[in-house]
This record gives sequence, C-alpha cells and structure tokens, in this order.
Amino acid sequence: MLTLMATVLSNERLTASVFRLAIEGSFHGEPGQFYMLRSWDKSPLLSRPISIHDLTSTAITFLIRLHGEGTRLLSRLTSGDQVTLYGPYGNGFPKPGGNVALVGGGMGIAPLLFSAKRFPFSKVFLGFSGEPFAVASYQALHGDVVFQSGGTILDAIDLNSFDKIYACGPLPMMAELRRRTAETAAQLYVSIEKRMACGIGICNGCTINVGTGNHKACTVGPVFPAEEVDF
Ligand code: FES
Repeated sequence: MLTLMATVLSNERLTASVFRLAIEGSFHGEPGQFYMLRSWDKSPLLSRPISIHDLTSTAITFLIRLHGEGTRLLSRLTSGDQVTLYGPYGNGFPKPGGNVALVGGGMGIAPLLFSAKRFPFSKVFLGFSGEPFAVASYQALHGDVVFQSGGTILDAIDLNSFDKIYACGPLPMMAELRRRTAETAAQLYVSIEKRMACGIGICNGCTINVGTGNHKACTVGPVFPAEEVDF
C-alpha cells in the first residue's frame, strides 16, 4: 500500500455529474482495486474510495460521480493542485482465461477501462440510463465495444459466448445478470457498488452478505463470485 501526495494533471467534466480526474505519478494496482482520495485537510473526515479507471507508468485516472462534499471538492481540482492517495485497496477481478466479457452499467463502467487494458482479449459492454460518458476511451483502447443508452445492455450480450464475465453496476443489474448467467457455463464475478464511507473496513457501511457470511465489500471485495452474493 502506498500513501502519496501527487499532482493533478487534468480534471474534465464529462457530464453534469461525472468527471475524470488524472493524477501524475507511478502508481500500482490491479483491475477492480480502488484508492482513497482526499484533497482537503480535516473536513470531511474520511477520504473518498474511487476505483482505478486507468493506470499508466506515469499517471492514474479516476471517473468520479458527484454525490457529496468530498466528491464536490475533488471536482474542483485543477491542473497543478495537490491530492493525497492511499492504496491500492480491495480485491480486484481474477486473472482471466478464455473469452471474457466486461459488463458495466452507469458508474460501474469505471473499473472496466483498466480491466480491458489488462485483459486484451475481452469484449466490452457499457450501459447507461442517461447520457453516455467516457465511451471513446474504451473504443480507443479496444475495438470490441458495445454501448447503449436506455434499455438494458444485458440484452446485447450473448452470454453463451463467454467463459468468464466481469461486471460492475447497480445491484438490480448484477442480480439480473446472475439470473441470466446461471443458464450458461460462464463464471460471473461482480464488483459490488456499495456506498463506501471509509473504504478501509472501519465504518461497516459496506457490509454485504455473501455465502461465507457478512463481509465488508471494501476489504474482502469489492469483487466477489456472483453465486456467493445475496443481492
Ligand atoms: Fe467503511 Fe467498508 S466502507 S467498512
């Protein structure tokens, strides 16, 4: 784990509520892991847990949705500002074998860009209920990207074509994906989007029931085999 004060490279508004924050530096991480970010001193008390959107040898990028004071402060950062990062935290997607589908819904698309980079033979499906965002990044990286706004992206996926499916999105979408995948031979792993206050196992706000009992999504997850999750 790393604690680092680093410099903001850019901060772009993608929609009214989503922005893309790029930070300079050499960071570590695996697809599905997250960092804790803060750009303030005392208040709010807790740093914000944000999944790795992209990682290169010189920068780390996050997609962030405005939903409170911490993300509002992060949204105001500009090039040259300082931000503190802790991480990487959590357990990400397992290393795949065979054909992999990466399935994201809404802000759940965030961890899949780095996943698509690390898992180059995967196919990417992105679903949005409103205005799409960041799709060009996936298309630039990966030729095989399907996206849609409205309806369900799940209808666009031939689930029988894949050995593994790695997904992140709203819980009802994940539950429906599990129901559909149960009729196939594909293994489904889901990254759980729980509200995380602390991100490091202190607040109990992200507790989730899985087959082995109650676990904190931020420390045991956020990625779980779907068959273990009590949606
Ligand atoms: Fe606080 Fe997981 S977010 S325990």
